[in-house]
Amino acid sequence: MIGALNLERPSGERFRDAEIMAMETLAGQVATALDNAHLYARSRQTVRELSDSLAQLRLAQAQLIQSAKLAAVGQLAAGVAHEINNPLTTIAGLSELMLPDLPEAGGLRDDMALILRETQRARSVVRRLLDFSRHPEPHRDLTDLNALVHDTVLLIYHAAIARNIYIAEAYAEDLPPTQLDANRMKQVALNLLNNAVQAIARGGHIYVDTGRSRRDAAPGVWLRVRDTGCGISPENMERIFEPFFTTKSPNEGTGLGLSVSYGIVQDHGGIIEVESIINQGSTFTVWLPVAGRG
Ligand SMILES: Nc1ncnc2c1ncn2[C@@H]1O[C@H](COP(=O)(O)OP(=O)(O)O)[C@@H](O)[C@H]1O
Ligand SMILES: [Mg+2]
Repeated sequence: MIGALNLERPSGERFRDAEIMAMETLAGQVATALDNAHLYARSRQTVRELSDSLAQLRLAQAQLIQSAKLAAVGQLAAGVAHEINNPLTTIAGLSELMLPDLPEAGGLRDDMALILRETQRARSVVRRLLDFSRHPEPHRDLTDLNALVHDTVLLIYHAAIARNIYIAEAYAEDLPPTQLDANRMKQVALNLLNNAVQAIARGGHIYVDTGRSRRDAAPGVWLRVRDTGCGISPENMERIFEPFFTTKSPNEGTGLGLSVSYGIVQDHGGIIEVESIINQGSTFTVWLPVAGRG
């Protein structure tokens, strides 16, 4: 039963048989119509739920593919880095030994100094790559994220001012101390800040702030670096966390900053998110879980 129909005559007279029959037919039709309307609403709801879960499934799949791809590329790169590290060590060591014995005249010593510098540069890239892939046992202490970020801002402050970039810092006062590998997390902050500086060609702003928020009910803290720089195109957006992906000249970028940062944040159980509008700027947010109620 989906409802009841109550009919009365104002005069109180009884309905005739034919009238009752007509009413019964009508009631049947109304009932069918109501039933159909309910069914329709329910099927619309089901369709909506299905398309929601389909969208969630697609998102989860895309994230899975992305992290599997990063892991594979990371392993490959780590293998290559190991192979390259040894010969580079030999070249750097021998150049250093030979340098003082070379004659100043004729430029030989300068050439050797250049070989040494370039080899050291290559080694530092390789070392960073190994750091990224090794996932060393994290060394964590209760850390004040605000102080860590501010210390890192100081490192790039002068480079920024020299490029007409102004940095505004806004730190949340109620931030709980967080279990962090401070050195590695500094590296994350430095990478994000360097990228922000490099994204701004002719003057601009970098906004650095921190706060606390929950994700899936887990308490955490976040660090955000926003710049008014060149922004990231949608095609590049899919690749920025890949090792060696860079849009910069070899002097400016190695393409390792974000992939290393991604690994570090992941080791902390956190998440890096990016939003960007081309020619307007980018926002990188790092969220990190904190123990307890936060
Ligand atoms: N704040 C930013 N604004 C614009 N582009 C960015 C920003 N951060 C990262 N990118 C893009 O992501 C690429 C990869 O960044 P990263 O891994 O730090 O390597 P690198 O800085 O050495 O190029 C950069 O080359 C750049 O194209
Ligand atoms: Mg970088």
